[in-house]
Amino acid sequence: MAAHPQDSSRAPRRVLVTGAASGLGLEFVRWYAVRGHRVLATDRIAPDDVPAGLLPDGATYRLLDVTRDEDWAAAMEWVQQTWGGLDVLVNNAGVAAGGRLDLIDMDEWHRVLDINLLGVVRGCRSALPLLRVQRGGTIVNVASVAGLVHAPSMASYNVSKAGVVALSETLRHELAPHGIQVSVVCPYFVRTNIANSMRSADPAALAAARHYVDGARATPEVIVRRAMRAVEAGRFLVLTDAMGRVLSWGKRLAGPLYRRALRATT
Ligand SMILES: NC(=O)c1ccc[n+]([C@@H]2O[C@H](COP(=O)([O-])OP(=O)(O)OC[C@H]3O[C@@H](n4cnc5c(N)ncnc54)[C@H](O)[C@@H]3O)[C@@H](O)[C@H]2O)c1
Repeated sequence: MAAHPQDSSRAPRRVLVTGAASGLGLEFVRWYAVRGHRVLATDRIAPDDVPAGLLPDGATYRLLDVTRDEDWAAAMEWVQQTWGGLDVLVNNAGVAAGGRLDLIDMDEWHRVLDINLLGVVRGCRSALPLLRVQRGGTIVNVASVAGLVHAPSMASYNVSKAGVVALSETLRHELAPHGIQVSVVCPYFVRTNIANSMRSADPAALAAARHYVDGARATPEVIVRRAMRAVEAGRFLVLTDAMGRVLSWGKRLAGPLYRRALRATT
């Protein structure tokens, strides 16, 4: 059976979103909840620390640190016991990272890859048994334009997000025969809290992250609306912004110009 676009008129879906206490994750929760789907919003924040009224009606909150296998096992147990399965997994949790290679130590590399890349691997591995038994479902992985075009002074973030793109493409083909759709969402900069999550020994990289994220025009509402339109249409690679399309097409079609532009940012 081939993966097929989701039919939004179907019975309410059962959705798990990671990194759901802020930014894009919170907006994915709202998008599904407002349409009557059942949502398990998860994040590494303790339930008592989630501000009252943050989550919409129809969403349940649960602690899930994407780096902890036991949290994933408990979340899958919860969806199975409570809902009898899972239809959509949104692997959204992530942190900002960056800095020149000589300034970033191995602890930081491990931290970034453990959250941004292996967090998504764990999510896919955890949900897969349920989705396969159902012979259907959707995995939405949130990567970034940085997973497709690789600006200087962002090696750890670029590598983590390129890994999410590669994982998604692999699973797209691997899971299509099981009726499971895989989409990878690649936003450009979005105004969220992500710059606060950045730890870097490179002050220039910290300042750049703040500048681009805090100054971004795109809001989570706009980006999630665009992303979900594409996901619901069964699209695999979802570029939510004009700048993302310019950069990724520019890399392919205008190599020398693209390389000059990137070098100018160092
Ligand atoms: N904001 C941007 O400019 C931008 C651009 C492209 C891609 N993205 C990606 O979008 C995703 C969401 O980021 P955002 O911009 O909404 O940031 P955000 O900081 O507003 O939200 C990220 C959420 O992830 C959670 N999180 C972090 N580590 C976690 C862990 N180990 N386990 C569970 N939850 C964890 C945080 O607590 C937070 O609630 C990330 O994967 C990010 O890389 C963001």
